[in-house]
Amino acid sequence: MRAASGANAQPWEYVLIAPGPARDAIRQACEAADAEFHRRSPEWLQQFFAAHEITPVKEFCRDAPWLVAVFGRRDLPFWLQGVWLSIGNFINALEMEGLHSLTYTPTLGRDFNRLLGVNEEWSCQAVLPVGYGQPAEELRPRPRLGPSDKARVVAADGKLLPFAARLPFEP
Ligand SMILES: Cc1cc2nc3c(=O)[nH]c(=O)nc-3n(C[C@H](O)[C@H](O)[C@H](O)COP(=O)(O)O)c2cc1C
Repeated sequence: MRAASGANAQPWEYVLIAPGPARDAIRQACEAADAEFHRRSPEWLQQFFAAHEITPVKEFCRDAPWLVAVFGRRDLPFWLQGVWLSIGNFINALEMEGLHSLTYTPTLGRDFNRLLGVNEEWSCQAVLPVGYGQPAEELRPRPRLGPSDKARVVAADGKLLPFAARLPFEP
């Protein structure tokens, strides 16, 4: 809720969905959207899905302790940037609480809004299952490139220089 937003428009709305029968239609909508996404994906992405055993089946829609749908309001200035800054804060806040989540971004239409009683001006940007991880499950460290790869400096004389500092997570 404290994310920065263009003109302080706060273009986000969070819908927290408890487990129960209301989740059935949500799961159906997510699985249908994902099946369509997989069908339309280019060959390389379909191969990535196969290699990682990613399918349109979304059991977490039924099983997650909470399901959080995040909407952005299309008619507000810089709404897309604002809602995603807010989602970024949300993911970090969950991590700090020791909770786990998945940023799931199905392409959902207006039928999905109707399921949740959300006005048509709002566009669902992400559906995040939230809960504690399985105790036996270990989070694998995810590789990250650092500023020496991802940042450049334009010096006073206009020369493009590499960013010299290294961060602790860089190899
Ligand atoms: C903008 C964004 C969209 C994502 N969309 C999906 C998605 O639709 N389905 C999914 O299974 N994971 C999705 N993810 C999760 C990522 O694939 C990845 O598992 C997650 O970001 C954690 O790994 P990382 O720290 O390397 O990013 C998404 C993540 C982000 C940040």
